[in-house]
Amino acid sequence: TTLLPFIEQMPKAELHLHIEGSLEPEMVFALACRNGLQLPYPDVASLRQAYDFSNLQEFLDVYYAGMAVLRTRQDFYDLTWAYLQRAQQERIVHVEIFFDPQAHLERGIPLATQIDGIHAALEDGQRQLGISFRLILSFLRHLSEESAFQTLEQAMPYLNRIDGFGLDSSEVGHPPEKFARLFARCRQLGFKICVHAGEEGPPDYVQQAVNLLQVDRIDHGNRALEDEALLVQLAARQIPLTLCPLSNLKLHVVQQLQQHPLLKLLQRGLLVTINSDDPAYFGGYLSANYRALLEHLPISREQLRQLACNSFTASWLPAEDKAVWI
Ligand code: HPA
Ligand code: ZN
Repeated sequence: TTLLPFIEQMPKAELHLHIEGSLEPEMVFALACRNGLQLPYPDVASLRQAYDFSNLQEFLDVYYAGMAVLRTRQDFYDLTWAYLQRAQQERIVHVEIFFDPQAHLERGIPLATQIDGIHAALEDGQRQLGISFRLILSFLRHLSEESAFQTLEQAMPYLNRIDGFGLDSSEVGHPPEKFARLFARCRQLGFKICVHAGEEGPPDYVQQAVNLLQVDRIDHGNRALEDEALLVQLAARQIPLTLCPLSNLKLHVVQQLQQHPLLKLLQRGLLVTINSDDPAYFGGYLSANYRALLEHLPISREQLRQLACNSFTASWLPAEDKAVWI
């Protein structure tokens, strides 16, 4: 249809992207070779075949195994640069990306190595590709509050290159309230905060994120749809939700895209955005997510435009920079 070029050409922001989730199988092999590492897969095709998940945890096991090839500053730079080149091709003009420092610290990779590589690529992307950025340090919720506080302490010398804090990994059993003191500290330090909530976890986790943690944004948030009072609150306060349709399909959060809650949430007046989450694992970058919606939902040109506008409204850009794109 005629809306395909429209999707490609719209200026877009991406607000929910784990940089480690943009690690393509080809790069896994290239970095394993460069770093002298043995992989438990004979070739790229057999690794890609392992990208078949029945839930979040099955994905996370493969995701943490894959990122083990990231060792040097250059590895983190190359990973980030590859994503930014893809982003530019899709007319993404602003990115707010997550990284998972604890997953690398556990493997003995210093925080400086991680941030130096990722941030240098983001700076080059701003200069050479015209893509503005924010960098979000995401804590792993399956680890302890103490581990998160230690990571925050270690990050102190680098906070001038961090824009906000997030929370990801295994959701059920690790509610936002487990990290209430941590995020209070992050907010006290003057940072934006967002947490994954309501992907697999119940609507109560979204409620905790909003009212206890006082997040600036919810990542996923699909299951907010099950709580009428919560929907009213999210709409009234225009708290953004970063939805990830292809991720939801691959992790069986929805059984079919036809059942995706996007249009219901949009019609209820929530500030929802479209994002790719972990594009190397979920079968598509941002444009592919928009195309999948167009193919499977009765979505209009005006709604597509609204979603792209929402991505800037929900971003952490200052108002004058948002105004350039909205
Ligand atoms: N959910 C939780 N943790 C994650 C995700 C996700 O979608 N992607 C990477 N870590
Ligand atoms: Zn995510």
